[in-house]
Amino acid sequence: MTQTAQIQSIIDRFVHSDQRGALLPLLHEIQEELGFIAPGAVPLIADALLISRAEVHGVISFYPDFRTEPPARHVIKLCRAESCQARGGAAIEAELSHHLGVAMGHARKDGQVALEPVYCLGLCAIGPNAMVDDRPVARIDSAAIGRIAGEVEA
Ligand code: FES
Repeated sequence: MTQTAQIQSIIDRFVHSDQRGALLPLLHEIQEELGFIAPGAVPLIADALLISRAEVHGVISFYPDFRTEPPARHVIKLCRAESCQARGGAAIEAELSHHLGVAMGHARKDGQVALEPVYCLGLCAIGPNAMVDDRPVARIDSAAIGRIAGEVEA
């Protein structure tokens, strides 16, 4: 089945169930099944829900959890909230970004790793913090960055 056919099949399930407010659940379903929301899904969704492409795109871009590119093999979510910023988060971000070869908010071109922002992990007293593939890492320093980089390159 092609990606477009897969997307259309998911859309058909939602539209035929006559569900009101289907956009968000539909976007979640597409991302769950395909791993991301391909740009080609936008016109299909807009046509099915009788809304503009701009509305669909606006919702996708508003929520940071929606991906428009295939997910990387490893995802590092670095906390950018106040407490972690006060503990050197900006310098950690720069060093991590340099080590991994990827800018914040992007995936590396080889698909190995993505660096994403997150806003508080509830570990404020032991920051700066990150989630590395859903595993919390606290008190990130240069040594921790080296370990994280080695882990995601393995
Ligand atoms: S501010 Fe970073 S964990 Fe709360």
